[in-house]
Amino acid sequence: MIRTNTCGELRKENVKEEVTLCGWVHRRRDHGGLVFIDLRDRYGFTQIVFDPSDCPKDIFAIAETVRPEWVLKITGEVRKRTEGAVREDCPTGDIEIVVSAIEVFNESKTPPFEIDQEKDVGEETRLEHRYLDLRRGRMFTNIKRRGEIVKRIRDYFHKNDFIDVETPILIKGTPEGSREYLVPSRLHNGKFYVLPQSPQQLKQLLMVAGFDKYFQVARCFRDEDQRGDRQPEFTQFELEMSFIDQNDVIDVTEGCFVEVTEAVRPDKKIQKMPFPRLTYKEAMEKYGSDKPDLRFELPLTLVTEVVRGCGFKAFASPIEDGGIAAALRVPGGAELTRKEIDELTDLAKRHGAKGLAYIVVKDDGLQSPIVKHLGDDIAQQLVKEVEAQVGDIIFFGVDEYTTALTPLGEVRKACARRFNLIDESVWSYCWVTDFPMFEKSKETGAIGAVHHPFTRPCSEDVDILESDPLNARSVAYDIVLDGVEVGGGSMRIHEHDLQKKIFDLLGISEKDAERRFGHMLKAFEYGAPPHGGIAMGLDRFVMLLCDEPNIREVIAFPKDQRAKDLMLGAPSEMPDTQIAELGIKIVE
Ligand code: AMO
Repeated sequence: MIRTNTCGELRKENVKEEVTLCGWVHRRRDHGGLVFIDLRDRYGFTQIVFDPSDCPKDIFAIAETVRPEWVLKITGEVRKRTEGAVREDCPTGDIEIVVSAIEVFNESKTPPFEIDQEKDVGEETRLEHRYLDLRRGRMFTNIKRRGEIVKRIRDYFHKNDFIDVETPILIKGTPEGSREYLVPSRLHNGKFYVLPQSPQQLKQLLMVAGFDKYFQVARCFRDEDQRGDRQPEFTQFELEMSFIDQNDVIDVTEGCFVEVTEAVRPDKKIQKMPFPRLTYKEAMEKYGSDKPDLRFELPLTLVTEVVRGCGFKAFASPIEDGGIAAALRVPGGAELTRKEIDELTDLAKRHGAKGLAYIVVKDDGLQSPIVKHLGDDIAQQLVKEVEAQVGDIIFFGVDEYTTALTPLGEVRKACARRFNLIDESVWSYCWVTDFPMFEKSKETGAIGAVHHPFTRPCSEDVDILESDPLNARSVAYDIVLDGVEVGGGSMRIHEHDLQKKIFDLLGISEKDAERRFGHMLKAFEYGAPPHGGIAMGLDRFVMLLCDEPNIREVIAFPKDQRAKDLMLGAPSEMPDTQIAELGIKIVE
């Protein structure tokens, strides 16, 4: 062994022992001739003292040249610190090492940012030098906690008799609604592998194979626009089960979240167990979101009937066209400034609203740019309908269903932050169920699957699949934590004929279905059991358990917002010969 102890290990009991420690120079201080070094490794810090009065000259000379992030080996005797020098906040704060030998393993250039401070550093610099960023306490703690979370997840599924199966990365595409990453084939020029957006089809095929209970911590790849909670390469923990219904999947998944959350973050309570369940319709109409944050209430109210046929065109027309009207009452909201209301209006617009109508309830009446158009009667009815009091503000969303509700949902969240309504002492889990089966593309008007094309329709709605597809519900469910979608899954179609019907409705021709999913259709001809499953976003779950604002903070080597790896320099150009072997020509 090169070292006898780690830098986080020595205590009063070790005084007088001769020890050897290795690590990085975290800090170096000169104090009236004495040199102090805090030596750091993964386990902690230990103070090393170089005293010119009892330290050999050559060793002291090295101590004087040492700089932050040099890598050292130190041998010396453990000594009790003098009374005033004890540091209560450091586990090794009672002792220090008086050096008798030193070896410099490696010097270090001055790092582009200070490792010993949790200062804000530009993200580009951090990502470019990720190996230095990972030396910092917060990052190290996050990545370590991630590992612990994965272990607990694996233990949970093993304990519950799930079989961990690795599925391939070079596959034929599996649809999850994003653009796919392609890998050109050298042996079959002109042909491509696709990186999995998820192991969706493979886990279903494992059910056909009779595995009954499958799970995996799986890498997924999606070529989509990056956001705080999205990466092109991310990890799911996911499962599939046979001969079960939605409640079985919900129960086993909920058990995993409870066990891991309580073990990793016992400092906060889970708000409600079993987790509340809302239908998609309830979530949208009450909270303006299919991933509602239930750490605060602030509900919306539907007021369609109050404004139907009113004289104010901006309200009446969308309802004539089949839309709805929703209202959000914010208690005490009258104190919002003009500027704050403008910011909320911008927020609503970014989420598709044309504007953000409002009424402020004052002592001396209603203050609002829309009351003169609505008329006093209707304005008063609206106030009554949402039970607004003096001092409140009411915001309105009037449009087609999701465009009326989603912007108000965002305004709801912003107001909760503004008025400090979020209960930060709890973990707020909930399930959202009964998602619509299909959605209409705003651009093309075509019908697409909300989840994926293997999602099972609700049995009550099978009859309306063709006549009224947009009102058909699926047996799909999402799990939400503090307003973040941390997982989603569904019961699957196991019948060949029903699957064909759904492909038809999605406009996937027989030829196309055969080309893309022929292997699934074929497998389903050999006895597919009823089955279903779910996939959880590991990165998002870890982000929340680490109180981080985005998933890059809990991924050791993430891509930046433009999907680049700034440290490795990927993607990068490749030699012409290698590209030619793939039968590919780069067009400038
Ligand atoms: P879905 O597409 O809903 O379902 O994904 C499941 C969960 O994965 C996480 N997630 C992401 N995390 C980080 N970066 C991304 N780009 C990203 N995309 C998704 C989310 C999401 O809830 N095969 C189905 C699951 C199933 O039906 O079993 C699927 O992948 O937390």
